[in-house]
Amino acid sequence: MTSTKILIKGGKVVNDDWSQISDVYIEDGKIKAVGINLPLSGDVNVVDATDKLVIPGGIDTHTHMEFSFMGAKAVDDFYIGTKAALAGGTTMILDFVIPQKGQSLLEAFENWKSSADPKVCCDYSLHVAVTWWSEKVKKDMQILVEEKGVNSFKMFMAYKDVFMLQDHELYLAFCHCKDLGAVAQVHAENGHLIAEGAKKMLSMGITGPEGHELCRPEEVEAEATQRAITIANSVNCPLYIVHVMSKSAAKIVANARREGKVVFGEPIAAGLGTDGSHYWNEDWAHAAKFVMGPPLRPDPSTPGYLMDLLANDDLSVTGTDNCTFKICQKALGKDDFTKIPNGVNGVEDRMSVIWEKGVHTGKMDENRFVAVTSSTAAKIFNLYPQKGRIAKGSDADIVVWDPSTTRVISAQTHHQAVEYNIFEGMECHGVPVVTICGGQVVYKDGILHATPGQGRYVHRNAFSEFVYKRVKQREKVNKPKPVRRVPYGGPILSVSNQN
Ligand code: URP
Ligand code: ZN
Ligand code: ZN
Ligand code: ZN
Repeated sequence: MTSTKILIKGGKVVNDDWSQISDVYIEDGKIKAVGINLPLSGDVNVVDATDKLVIPGGIDTHTHMEFSFMGAKAVDDFYIGTKAALAGGTTMILDFVIPQKGQSLLEAFENWKSSADPKVCCDYSLHVAVTWWSEKVKKDMQILVEEKGVNSFKMFMAYKDVFMLQDHELYLAFCHCKDLGAVAQVHAENGHLIAEGAKKMLSMGITGPEGHELCRPEEVEAEATQRAITIANSVNCPLYIVHVMSKSAAKIVANARREGKVVFGEPIAAGLGTDGSHYWNEDWAHAAKFVMGPPLRPDPSTPGYLMDLLANDDLSVTGTDNCTFKICQKALGKDDFTKIPNGVNGVEDRMSVIWEKGVHTGKMDENRFVAVTSSTAAKIFNLYPQKGRIAKGSDADIVVWDPSTTRVISAQTHHQAVEYNIFEGMECHGVPVVTICGGQVVYKDGILHATPGQGRYVHRNAFSEFVYKRVKQREKVNKPKPVRRVPYGGPILSVSNQN
C-alpha cells in the first residue's frame, strides 16, 4: 500500500497565476504544506521532482464513458476511461448524464452514478443533459442542483428527434438554469440543417465519412453558436459552448466575450490536435475513426487557430468529448455516414496534446496551460480551490510533469479500450511522470496503481462566483424600468368607425 504521506521535493510548482520552486507535502488526501525545504520525517514517500513541474491534476470537462449512443456502447467504461485519464495526467472527469426524451433526469442521474461509483479510479462529477422539456424536467433540475451536486446542464441543438430542443425550450431551460445558479451548456449545431444536409448528401451518392462533414459545414455550427448566445443573453444566463470545433464558431464566442457576455468556449483535444482532412481518406475505417459531432474541420489552419484563441482567453477550458467506439461499432455506418457512432478518443492524451501544440510552440506559458487544463474548469464548475490549485488545503490531485521528455502517442501503448488513436504517431514534448490522485500515487514511471472505486463523486454547489458574480450584479442593475409619463389624453380612433 502506498504511503498516504508524500513529499514532492524540488519541483517547480505551477499554478495558473504563479510558478515557484517548492516542496509539496501531502497527507490523507490533502495538500498540507507548500514551501521551500519542507522537513522530511521517516514514514514519508518522497517523490523527486527536480527539473520537473508540479501541476494541478488535469480536469477533463467533457467525457462520455460507457455511453450508449447510435446503437453502440462506448468501450471506455468508467474504469478503463479513468485509468487512462490518470496515465495522461488527468485526475478528474466531468461526464454527461444523457436521459432519453421522456426519461426522468433524476432516474438517469442515479443510473449513471451507480454505474460510475464502483469503477472510477479518479474523482468525477456529472453534467446532466436536458433532452426534453416539461414541469417534471424543471423540478428534476431543481432537485439535481439542490440535493445532488449538479450545477451544469447540457442542451442539444442537434440530433433532431433524439436529443434536440427547440428554441423556445432552450429559452425556458436557460431561464431555469439562471434561476438555479447553474451553467447552461450547449451542443451548438443546427439540427434541422444537418438533417436536410444529410438527406442531400445521401441522395448525391455520398455515403462515406466525408458526408458527415459536408452535411454540417462550419456555418451550421456558427449559426447555432450565435443563436445560443443570443437566447442565453436575453435571459442573462451564463453559457458554456461545449466542443467548439470551427474557426467560425470560435470567432463568435470570442466576439461575445469581447462584448462582455458571460460565455465560455471549450475546444477539445481532437480539435486542437488534428483536423477533418482524414474524412477524405480512402481507407473507410481510417476516416470513420474521426467521425464526431460537430466534425473536425478540413481547413488545416483550424487547430492552430483554436489554440491561439485558447491561449488568449477567447476560449476558456479544454475537454475531450472522449466517446470511443471500436471500428466494428463505427462499421454500423459503413454504407451510410449518418449511422456511424459519433465520438473520438482523447481523455489520455489531452494534456500532452495541449502541451505540444500550446506550450511547446510558444503560444501559451506553463501557467496558462494549468488554467486551460485544470484551474478554469474548477472555477467555472465551482470546484476551486479544492481542485485546480496547488495550495494548502486543496485536494492532493497533482501531476509531476516532465517538459523535457518526449513520447509518441500510439494505440500500441495507450490505456484506452479502443484499438486506434486519432493522434497516432504524434510526438509530444511534455510527459506526466507521476500522477497523484486523492493523495495516492496512482501512476509512476509508466505503471498504473489505480483501483476501481477509488475515485469519489464530487458535489458542485450552485452559483459559482467565477460565473455568477457578474450575472447577479447585472440582474440587480439592468432591470428595465417603465418610463413614467403623463397619461395620454388625446383622441383615440374608434374601432367601430373603421370600414
Ligand atoms: O460526437 C460526439 N460529440 N459524441 C458524443 C455526444 C456529444 O454530442 O457530445
Ligand atoms: Zn455534444
Ligand atoms: Zn488520416
Ligand atoms: Zn460530448
